[in-house]
Amino acid sequence: MTFRQLPPDLVATLRETVSLGVITGAGVSAESGIQTYRGQGGLYDDEAEGDRTVEALSAPTLAADPDRTWGVVAHLARQTIQAKPNPAHQALVAMEATLERFILLTQNVDGLHRLAGTRNMIDIHGDVLETRCSSCAFHGDLSVEDLQALTGTPRCPQCACGLRPHVVLFGEMLPEAKIRRLHEEFYERPPEVVLIAGTSAIFPYIAEPVLLAAQAGHPTIEVNPEPTPLSDRVRWSLRGKAGEIFPQIAAALASRA
Ligand code: OAD
Repeated sequence: MTFRQLPPDLVATLRETVSLGVITGAGVSAESGIQTYRGQGGLYDDEAEGDRTVEALSAPTLAADPDRTWGVVAHLARQTIQAKPNPAHQALVAMEATLERFILLTQNVDGLHRLAGTRNMIDIHGDVLETRCSSCAFHGDLSVEDLQALTGTPRCPQCACGLRPHVVLFGEMLPEAKIRRLHEEFYERPPEVVLIAGTSAIFPYIAEPVLLAAQAGHPTIEVNPEPTPLSDRVRWSLRGKAGEIFPQIAAALASRA
């Protein structure tokens, strides 16, 4: 349904909700000026260029030609370091403050949920402004100055080996501890209501918690200006922007009877 205001039955459900699981993707940061991956203007929009970008962001390229991977990572990091949380990020912080239990699973590597103040979250794909050493235990942050000076692969300040971005590249496993938390939060103790937004939901570990909740009869909500494979599976598919719809969801949750 095209979004104008929340449907009354959704408002009634939210007024009784005490636990919420939220899953976000790049669309939630679009209103902060960060490029999405797919769709018009997305990082992979042009097919040939998109394939080259995916290849650059892969484990084999990092091993063979780290400067090429860092070229794309530096582009993403420069967008990110200038961006500020938008009303969607802020509304999620308000939701967490209202509810007895709140968990956010994000695919975004821009750190904007954390910057806004969300606490209980799993950033399953990592953070593009963090680095780690390929050989020693060094883990650090990229500053504006680092990014201005960055050409090629940055060096570890401790051992001078090449640093790698602290993100999951294509062909890499998801971090085990984060997968374990995802299972605990969404499978072992499923939230009452699941909200998914701003994602094309192509990865099974992103779509499955929503499908599981829907199958179990839990209320499920999708927020996206475009239809996705989940649109027909959720109870409420709201066509619109997260920055416009999330504040209304937060207000409905806060009006809990
Ligand atoms: P995509 O770029 O695939 O999808 C972005 C989604 O956001 C689309 O469905 C848009 O319609 C929607 N959208 C755009 N603007 C929006 C807005 N204002 N409010 C709500 N939705 C909006 O991004 P992801 O699904 O996050 O992985 O991509 C998943 C993963 O693919 C990324 O984490 C990245 C990428 O390869 C890695 O880097 C490992």
